[in-house]
Amino acid sequence: MDVLSAIKNRKSTRAFIDKQVSPQTIHDVLDAARWAPSGANIQPWKVAVTTSGTKTNLCLALADAFQSNSPSNADYKYYASPVEEPYLARQRRCGAALYGALDISRQDKKQRRAQWLKNYFAFDAPVILFIFIDSSLEKGSWIDMGMFIQNIMLAARGHGLESCPQASLAEYPDIVRSHLTITDEQLLICGIALGYSDTTAAVNQYRTERESGDSFTSWHS
Ligand SMILES: Cc1cc2nc3c(=O)[nH]c(=O)nc-3n(C[C@H](O)[C@H](O)[C@H](O)COP(=O)(O)O)c2cc1C
Repeated sequence: MDVLSAIKNRKSTRAFIDKQVSPQTIHDVLDAARWAPSGANIQPWKVAVTTSGTKTNLCLALADAFQSNSPSNADYKYYASPVEEPYLARQRRCGAALYGALDISRQDKKQRRAQWLKNYFAFDAPVILFIFIDSSLEKGSWIDMGMFIQNIMLAARGHGLESCPQASLAEYPDIVRSHLTITDEQLLICGIALGYSDTTAAVNQYRTERESGDSFTSWHS
């Protein structure tokens, strides 16, 4: 797959078929991702690959925390509060596209919550990659992490895999760390659901939109 196709065709995938990803393929994806640039080549990334029983038990614990209304204690704040325009409108369109594809109305809180719960099971993906960064590192290294994460998702495309980056999987980082025996010095950035797309699932039938290049670009000569 050429690089432009991988970039343009990657999309967050929220239903996967029941097909394992071989350890070799996961290895190959991460082997490609490690070529991400990073300031002074610090290479700040740490990845915990979870599959099978470990993944299942961890997902159950995360879902349990959510179901018992435990407040998130994420290691970092992802969104501004409040989210201002123009970002708020985009965020709302994003939600509307997802629930629209599933035919879940705005008022149907029960179905919306049921759909959200699927996050904690990584949408039944066979693999979850948990992405950590050392707490001693600064914002610059977090930039590097974004590039690494995108590399994972693009390399996954090269192997016929789909993915969904998930901040939701980082809402209860203490649970993740304790299940994986990872110390508090490793901050959890996100999980990435990884697997083979269920191309027939309604939730996978839509694409999010993007603003045009002209809307965010100014040219200066
Ligand atoms: C760091 C990060 C965290 C995200 N967390 C979630 C999440 O918890 N659940 C979810 O369904 N989508 C999540 N997304 C996916 C975004 O909603 C998605 O990237 C956005 O709507 C654009 O759609 P696309 O990825 O299909 O192009 C996340 C994306 C990123 C980059």
